[in-house]
Amino acid sequence: MLYKNLARLLRLQIQQGGLGPGERLPSIRQLAASHQVSAATAVQACLQLEREGLAEARPRIGYFVRVAGQGLISTVPPPRAPALISNPALLDLLLVDDNATILPLHAARPAPSLLPDATIAAALSRSLRRHREQSLGYAPPQGYAPLRRQIAQRYASMGVTVDADEIIVTAGAMEAITMALRVLTRPGDIVLVETPTYQGILQTVATLGLQVLELPRLRDGGLDLVLLESLLAKQAVRAAVMVPNFSNPLGLSLDDDTKQALLACCAHHGTVLVEDDIYGDLAWDDSRPPPLRRWNDGGAVITCTSFSKTLSPGLRVGWMLGGAWTGELLRAKYFSTVGNAALPQLAISDYLARHDLERHLRKLRRALAGNASHMRAAIDRHWPAGTRMGEPRGGLSLWIQLPAGSDAAVFSRAALAQGVGVMPGHVFSGNGDYRDHVRLSCGLPFDQSIDAALRRLGVIAASLF
Ligand SMILES: Cc1ncc(COP(=O)(O)O)c(C=O)c1O
Repeated sequence: MLYKNLARLLRLQIQQGGLGPGERLPSIRQLAASHQVSAATAVQACLQLEREGLAEARPRIGYFVRVAGQGLISTVPPPRAPALISNPALLDLLLVDDNATILPLHAARPAPSLLPDATIAAALSRSLRRHREQSLGYAPPQGYAPLRRQIAQRYASMGVTVDADEIIVTAGAMEAITMALRVLTRPGDIVLVETPTYQGILQTVATLGLQVLELPRLRDGGLDLVLLESLLAKQAVRAAVMVPNFSNPLGLSLDDDTKQALLACCAHHGTVLVEDDIYGDLAWDDSRPPPLRRWNDGGAVITCTSFSKTLSPGLRVGWMLGGAWTGELLRAKYFSTVGNAALPQLAISDYLARHDLERHLRKLRRALAGNASHMRAAIDRHWPAGTRMGEPRGGLSLWIQLPAGSDAAVFSRAALAQGVGVMPGHVFSGNGDYRDHVRLSCGLPFDQSIDAALRRLGVIAASLF
């Protein structure tokens, strides 16, 4: 851990401008002497900064701070004091979803052709035919019991022990996250979120009047655990909303060690983890990373997720693993919506009983990986020099840094005028950071029209900096 401490100090110096772009870092010998660590530790710290894209090695000379625009993704913003979210763009997001003339590269969802739409439609008709009364009546507030049992079985197949009695069916993952925060917090409380993060999480936090503390996800998708520890030690943080698996927009996951360290650190400080695992099933190489819940029996984690990205966003079938909070969450659910609509739950349950979900997921993951790889190649071909891409491993997002000096809000407006939806980077931060980033979805099957759209976007990007 020593090298991580040293890397953190150097990172802060770089982020706060104490070490400017192109400047040389102190030599290994100087670092070792001034911080009383071994030369090996100093080297490891420099390597860590190199992995994060903050520094680069020049053979036989030393380590230098990378010049802006040469890194993979720009310097992560330094952590700030907790604050109410003040990014107005969040609350009036250009939701162009209903506009069929727009190519929806802004929307993180798989195209209907990648989802089992016909099978789900058949399941809906069958459920209505066979269980008409149940379909049209009130469903139990906690959700349809056979569906909850099927979900619990899926966790068992991942080696995660979950009791069907602690599963609460919700209207998508978003309702689950909102309910978890409503139960855990009061207006004015501080919650920790990772940055960049899904704008829906930031909107919920803003709507609930919570203060936000942003913890940067590192370039490799990891977390600075030393920084996390110091943030949680400094102030009472009621909850942390994290997307450990294939986060939106990075498409990267925390490794198992980091997940366990995150759990331990939050448990130590009494911070409840609200885990959004919506992309956990979308590992492009089929290696499903475990949810945080795998290492905790629900005493410190509330897991929230849904079938929105895997089966159907429109049916709005999500769920939460309530753990120790199940009773309170159930009351909150009952008092807000009474329960989810019955028919979509019956249909998903019917689908799970008759079809091999895993087989569908394998096909979906392959398709998303293929789309992402074609899109990355097209962006390489068509976008100006200085464009940087991360290296996502799953999910639905490509996170792209435009050349230095670009304004992604202007870019996305120009793209929309040309019929292409693009999500500007500043909506992924409560404070409007990432102004030179955009997120594209890789949920649409790659074809000539996507290639042509990416070419048009490349022309816009080239004209803007
Ligand atoms: C990280 C994340 N969480 C939650 C959601 C929304 O999920 P749902 O449609 O199930 O409410 C999204 C959708 O983009 C997302 O990216």
